Amino acid sequence: MSSPSTFASPEHTGHAPAPIKRDYREPGPLVIEIENVTKLYKMGEEIVHALLGVSIRVHRNEYLAVMGPSGSGKSTLMNMLGCLDTPTSGKYHFTGKDVSGMSDDELADIRNREIGFVFQTFNLLPRSSSLQNVELPLVYAGLPPAQRREKAIQTLRDVGLGERMSHKPNELSGGQRQRVAIARALVNNPSIILADEPTGNLDSKTGEEIMQLLEVLYEKGNTIIVVTHEEDIARHARRIVRLRDGLIESDTRQH
Ligand SMILES: Nc1ncnc2c1ncn2[C@@H]1O[C@H](COP(=O)(O)OP(=O)(O)OP(=O)(O)O)[C@@H](O)[C@H]1O
Ligand SMILES: [Mg+2]
Repeated sequence: MSSPSTFASPEHTGHAPAPIKRDYREPGPLVIEIENVTKLYKMGEEIVHALLGVSIRVHRNEYLAVMGPSGSGKSTLMNMLGCLDTPTSGKYHFTGKDVSGMSDDELADIRNREIGFVFQTFNLLPRSSSLQNVELPLVYAGLPPAQRREKAIQTLRDVGLGERMSHKPNELSGGQRQRVAIARALVNNPSIILADEPTGNLDSKTGEEIMQLLEVLYEKGNTIIVVTHEEDIARHARRIVRLRDGLIESDTRQH
């Protein structure tokens, strides 16, 4: 793992990444507010304490990285934030709505309309084209076919894949697959983009390109949370939350 000083001085990491411009922004409205959230998993007789009381507030147009050792609770937290799972205890408000007590259907509705997911393994439909993959959330949203197509085409262009609309995932490079997945996450104009190790299956150069794309999306006003093990990836974020053993160890802004 990199030392904190390496992290503070990215020019010393060996491949001299371009410096990141950090301007001060007034916080936008609250998107995420979790308070004292716990998550326990029952494994037969044993209880696994994945989260032990975590509180975080995220405002619109923040760019946050979640870091921490394997097993510290990062994915558990992301599943909670993404309304894929509910906390064992504690409060969760998403864009002001209390989601901690919502039914599965209500949670699915929030996910479809307001949350864009990006996964380490891309999770694209293997037999569908880029265009069809990106259109899918709009099918769920009930948009008419012509509008669907138009939005999906525009979003694929926005991520630099205008020339790859009819390719299937196995006809694309890893970086291009992740771009399709990012376009799919974006196409609905979500309130937040949640990315769990989005560069984990990519070489470092391609990973850096994906981070540049997230940077552009952040500059355009999106709200982004990225889980990563890598300091080089986290340095793109404006704020870093570090988890350890199910608790927040630190929550710092980078300037
Ligand atoms: N569905 C589950 N059932 C039981 N235990 C679980 C489940 N999911 C996660 N855990 C446990 O909860 C803890 C936190 O897991 P989590 O997946 O959130 O870690 P992580 O920080 O994402 O790790 P990694 O960096 O390896 O992805 C771990 O001890 C894990 O074994
Ligand atoms: Mg994980």
